[in-house]
Order: sequence, then C-alpha cells, then structure tokens
Amino acid sequence: MSKTIRVLFLAAEADPFIKVGGLADVTSALPRALRSLPPDRVDDVTFDVRLALPHHSAIKAEARPIAFYSLPRAGREVEVRVSESLLGEMPVYLIHGEPIASSGAVYSSNLAIDTEKYAFFSLAALELPRYLNWDVDIVHAHDWHTALALYALLLKRQNRQEKPIAGLLTLHNLPFMGGDLTEILASYNLPLLETDLPAWAKALPLPLGLFSADAIVVVSPTYAREILTPEFGCGLQDFLHRRRHLIHGILNGLDTLSFDPAADPALPARFTVETIDLRQQNKLALQHKLGLPAEPLIPMIAMIGRLDRQKGVDLALAVLRKLTDLPWQFVLLGIGDLALEDAARALQAEFPGRVRVELRFDSQLARHIYAAADMFLMPSRYEPCGLAQMIAMRYGCVPIVHATGGLSDTVTEERGFLFKTPSVRALRAALLKAFALYPNRERWRALQRAGLSADFSWLRSAKRYSDLYQNVLHSLRVQEIRQ
Ligand code: GLC
Repeated sequence: MSKTIRVLFLAAEADPFIKVGGLADVTSALPRALRSLPPDRVDDVTFDVRLALPHHSAIKAEARPIAFYSLPRAGREVEVRVSESLLGEMPVYLIHGEPIASSGAVYSSNLAIDTEKYAFFSLAALELPRYLNWDVDIVHAHDWHTALALYALLLKRQNRQEKPIAGLLTLHNLPFMGGDLTEILASYNLPLLETDLPAWAKALPLPLGLFSADAIVVVSPTYAREILTPEFGCGLQDFLHRRRHLIHGILNGLDTLSFDPAADPALPARFTVETIDLRQQNKLALQHKLGLPAEPLIPMIAMIGRLDRQKGVDLALAVLRKLTDLPWQFVLLGIGDLALEDAARALQAEFPGRVRVELRFDSQLARHIYAAADMFLMPSRYEPCGLAQMIAMRYGCVPIVHATGGLSDTVTEERGFLFKTPSVRALRAALLKAFALYPNRERWRALQRAGLSADFSWLRSAKRYSDLYQNVLHSLRVQEIRQ
C-alpha cells in the first residue's frame, strides 16, 4: 500500500536562502534527498518534506504570503506572518514576526535575544501545519535553535490535544545549547516539566529538545559515541547515556553534483579519477594567482573554513612554524576568530615566500584550492561531521585529520592520514608521514584515487533517515495503542 510520510524540517539556516555554517548545507540537501528517494521497496513509502526557516532580514528570496496567525504571549497576541518560497519543488516556509524582525543577524552576540527569537520561531512554526491543513507526521528539528519545538510537541502530546506527531532532533554541535528559557516559557504559558536533566540544563532549549525527542540523530557514528563520554559530552553525557537507545549516528552526505571535479566551472582544469594528473594545472594556476613560487613538486598544504579553536587552526599554525626546514607551501582561506586571523597573518609575514592567507569567504577560490593543493589539514579538536574533508577527498586533496567524530568515519588510512590526539606533536608526526610518502607518486595516486572514488552521496544518508522515520512512527503508534 503506498503511503506518504509528511515531515516538517525546522532550521535556523538553509542554503541558498541563508548560510552561516555547515548546518545550512544539511538542511538544504537532506530534505530534497528524502523527497527524491525512490519509493521504499517494501512499503512503497514516499516523503513529503518541507522546510521552515525564520525570515531573517538577509533573506532576499521571492515568496508569496500564505498564512497569518498569532501566538498568545503574556496577555497579548504576537503576530505570525508566513510566506512560501520554493527550493526546487520543495515548499519553504519563511516565518516572520516581531522577535525575528527586531534581531538583525542569524546569530548575534547576544544569547538572550537569540533565545527569544528562536523560541518564537519554534513555537510559531509548530502551529503552521494546522493553518495549511497539512497533516504532518514528523517534526524534525536541528540544533538548539529549533529544539524547543520538540518540547512544545511533547506538551501537546501529553495534553492529548491533537493527533500525536513524532519529534526528531538532529544534533550538529552539542556545545551550543541556547540560553535560559524560564521566563520565555512562562510568558507563552508553557510549564517547565521536571526532567532528569542536570540542574544547569533544565531550562535550556537543546537539553529540553533532547529530553523530548523520539529519536536523536548525531551527524556521524563516532560523534554519537563520543558525546556519551565526559570529554565530549559537555556535562550531558550521563543524561545522554540513559537515552542511548534513542541515539543514531548518521553521516551527512555531500552534494556530489555540485562538488564534481569533472564538471566544476570554478576549476581551471577539470579532471576525473582517470585524469588526476591534470590537477597539476590547477596547482600551477593557483600558485600564479596567489603569487607563490610556481613549484609543481613542492607539497602544497591547504586549510579552508572557519578560523576557530574547534578547528585546531592554532595547532596547524604552530606545527608549520616548526617545520620550516622542509619544503612546503601553505594556503589558508577563511574568516573567524580575530586572534587566529592575526596569528595567520603573522605566519604569512614571516614566510611570505611560502604562506598565503586569504581572510575571506570565497566559495570559488575554495573549490580551486581543493582541486589544486596536495594535502588538506583538519586538526579539529572535535568534529561532529565535517564537510571540508569530504570535498577535499572528492577533489583529490589528501586529508590529514584528527581521528575524531565524522573525520574518523570518512577518512580511512587508504584515503588519508589520521592522528590520535589534537596536539602539535601528533599533527607534526602525521605531516611528516605525509611528506615522506608524497614523493612516491604511485602510492600518493592510490590515496587520491581512493578518496575520489568514495561514496559520500546524500542518497545513502537519506535511506538511513527514511528507515528511522518509519521506525519512529511505528513505535509512536504502538505507544498510542498501549495508552
Ligand atoms: C556543525 C558541525 C560540523 C557538521 C555540520 C553539519 O557545523 O561543527 O561538524 O559537519 O554542523 O552537520
């Protein structure tokens, strides 16, 4: 019997509407991958997935008004205006209201304001299906920003107001939990339930979402295990351990159509696994573009992304400074922490003949670097999934990574180099191993070929989510019958 499962994605950002980090790639690609899954072999299931986003002022997409309602709050009504845009064929709902309009940035430096804004968004989005007459089966929230929706869903279920809806939470970054909700909940007339959360976490959005979710997805199997330990659990490890049967590690995918070295218009020379040698032209073009010596045989090391302590940028800079008796070139592209930007600039000033630091966001240059450099550094202290290492491998740039989270699950010894502790010493040892292997063309090609041939497609992840949705709905029905 054919069946459609209706899923509402709730997220703070989604590419191309608005993008700050890796979250935007997932919330844009995953719902579309689910929608295009071929009907399930056994049950003939298809997915009607739609996405709701806050109508941030930076969003310029065309949209048509489709719903207008209000949320009661502290004795008055807060207006909610919703307009509909499209991503391919998927409806995308942009939610507008005073708490969203009054806060400019997607994420500001004021946690209280952000918490207020995302609480409003979560509660407003949860009401939307009713106004659209869209009979939703699952609400799928992402990170702390939208986690409160799952708590509100649980309260509705306890009141047995409507047909029960399942709640799923995908965790992209555990340390970010949101701000105190005590007063906000009271103002929306919502109770704060007694939970088994530690006292400090009892009124924070992410912990309440984790408490309420019917299933928790973590963006890689290794990070799913790591968050159960004191080192990565951010104080929630015991609470999460009690819920480990609800936790699933599902690796993110990569948009393999967009990131295709055989067709990427941003590359001076396009190539396939059979024509990897053409990469050399990209390297020479990049050296020329950045004013580095045109040296095809010197290993070129790249780093691309947010300049952040999480990403281990400080470790990379420290190691390179210690390895100046060896020949290498280093290209860094990204923006972030001001102290790290200064440290990167200082390295370039010290070694102008071999270091280029480009402190900006430039997706075209990023693609060129992935297709030109020989080694890709990612010494992240923790990495829930990580996207850059997957792009690097698909573009023939051999990754050197700390064996943590999604880096452990995507980079194997056949495709790159892994080291066990995020320290200068361990990174140095891994780099020396890579330098030693680099002149061996055959073995280096083998690493590149293995990376280029790996399957990082979204289809694989979407199938896992599809199974999970069906299991969650099944157990919700069983619960209902028992009650
Ligand atoms: C966060 C994580 C990153 C992950 C991304 C998408 O940005 O830090 O590891 O790839 O979310 O899930």
